[in-house]
Amino acid sequence: MSEILLETQDLALAYGGFRAVDGVNLSVKAGTIHSVIGPNGAGKTSLFHCLTGGRKPSEGSIFFNGADITHRPAHARVGIGMARSFQVTSLFQNLSVRENLRLAAQGCDGDKALAFWRPVGAGKAHIATAERVMERLGLAAKANTAAGDLSHGQQRVLEVGMALCGEPKLLLLDEPTSGMGIDDIPIMTHLIAELGKDHTVMLIEHNMGIVMTISDTITVMSRGQILVEGKPDAVRADERVRAAYLGEAAV
Ligand SMILES: Nc1ncnc2c1ncn2[C@@H]1O[C@H](COP(=O)(O)OP(=O)(O)OP(=O)(O)O)[C@@H](O)[C@H]1O
Ligand SMILES: [Mg+2]
Repeated sequence: MSEILLETQDLALAYGGFRAVDGVNLSVKAGTIHSVIGPNGAGKTSLFHCLTGGRKPSEGSIFFNGADITHRPAHARVGIGMARSFQVTSLFQNLSVRENLRLAAQGCDGDKALAFWRPVGAGKAHIATAERVMERLGLAAKANTAAGDLSHGQQRVLEVGMALCGEPKLLLLDEPTSGMGIDDIPIMTHLIAELGKDHTVMLIEHNMGIVMTISDTITVMSRGQILVEGKPDAVRADERVRAAYLGEAAV
């Protein structure tokens, strides 16, 4: 598949006078797992903020499915099929896995979620979505467990599931394995690889084992700019990438 789902043109985000994202031209093909890597402070999360609407870019444009979404608010981007993984704190710790997912499905329904006149069937659809996502996550056995009683790794998996409930075209995951124990990492790796079969996934990840295994394309950022882009083998062999990471270690 070579259709472009997401594209940025000369995208920039400045915090005061500092350009955290500095002229990024990115193309993400539909149906691929596209990872964004780079040393700490390279601008990866800032790029995601621009893509999801959390921050207004200082310059440049963002196109999703061919439409210019640069000025659309975050909630409108969710409505057209963009979702980012939630932070741990956004899980309802006292509610069950099933209830968390049902509420996420309801929340992703936009304005309809609050409409008391919505068709009776809507609630059933949210329950069905929650059940399907739970299966997908491998959390069906934990359906009635409170989110707060899950292991940290399972909570991170559930966060990815919350984003999935809106049935997004593009899933943006910012360090989904951060803080995970070594035993849980293969579960998340497998989940992302599986999701990549029927979603487009953008992944920020520091674990090179995961990135090199599951990515179709890797964009390497350094100092707000794209340093290198290509397939895993080419990126792994690129001296400029090595130098960027070594530069970070030397600081
Ligand atoms: N709200 C902010 N105000 C000012 N500077 C910021 C802000 N957020 C991030 N920065 C700076 O912008 C740069 C890019 O930060 P960003 O969080 O995008 O990097 P990153 O590539 O995600 O790094 P990491 O791998 O550590 O998560 C860093 O130098 C950071 O200190
Ligand atoms: Mg970051």
